Amino acid sequence: MSLTRAARIILVGAPGVGKGTQTDRLMRKFPELASISSGDLLRKNVRERTPLGIQAESKMKAGVLVPDTMILRLIINELTNRGWLTNDTIRPYTVYSSSIGMDQEDTVDSVFIPSGLRTSKYNYSDHPSASFILDGFPRTAAQASQLDDLIPINLVVNLDTPTDIIIDRICNRWVHAPSGRVYNTTFNAPKVEGKDDVTGEPLTRREDDDPEVWKERLRHFKETSLPLLEHYDKMGVLWNVKGNTSDEITPRLIKEFGRRFGALDN
Ligand code: AP5
Ligand code: MG
Repeated sequence: MSLTRAARIILVGAPGVGKGTQTDRLMRKFPELASISSGDLLRKNVRERTPLGIQAESKMKAGVLVPDTMILRLIINELTNRGWLTNDTIRPYTVYSSSIGMDQEDTVDSVFIPSGLRTSKYNYSDHPSASFILDGFPRTAAQASQLDDLIPINLVVNLDTPTDIIIDRICNRWVHAPSGRVYNTTFNAPKVEGKDDVTGEPLTRREDDDPEVWKERLRHFKETSLPLLEHYDKMGVLWNVKGNTSDEITPRLIKEFGRRFGALDN
């Protein structure tokens, strides 16, 4: 299916609700879509031992949010690298480089963000090829306001599933860390136990999938999500979808997405 205008979507939902799962399914249905997962980006930085990753690691392990400044620079860098955001006046941050992007002495809370970042105008395209899904960003109303200044989001999907269902899934989740591919031993098991379907490499557990850490992540989600959703509700772009399983949610999401972005059958 093809799109008639750029879709700029955010998925919001409790940890383990299925943001990554729904993102994959939407991308399979609409090949023009691409995605950025803030969690995957952070985990990549942790794996590669970048200064940013080293500072993020302890927060992620504890199930708390990383500072807004850190996540914002990471996302702006990614949006710019992918060509979805352009700005002639500021060189994009190079967060994967060990020497650029964050000085060794900086703490994550005192990261220097040039004032130009807030005031200068970024450009973005409305062509369908500039369509994307953000999975896990923004997570706070403050992050949402900062994103508003850069690029307007035109659909916010609030995925709502009871938390007692989610905790069971988390205990069975396995990931292929380099790609972010997600498996679940009861729901979408890998073809060969413990191995990634595409590369055959070993699957691992996420460090923050420990039940106690998950509860902490959930607590933060409950604290921050209401103001975030209110922010987007006021802008008229919020769409809520409730369901006990991803299979229940996916067809409704695809239908709504098609309705809003003029997806046509080829
Ligand atoms: P992040 O990686 O974004 O984690 P999260 O929000 O906690 O969400 P998850 O990735 O755990 O779950 P998901 O909703 O993607 O579910 P999935 O599809 O995998 O963030 C990690 C950390 O990074 C944060 O704690 C924070 O520290 C930091 N961070 C990230 N963004 C940040 C930001 N903007 N600001 C500050 N800090 C930030 O599904 C879960 C499982 O369910 C899978 O096993 C899946 O296979 C299974 N499943 C799905 N559907 C079904 C079904 N129907 N039946 C059975 N199982 C199912
Ligand atoms: Mg995820």
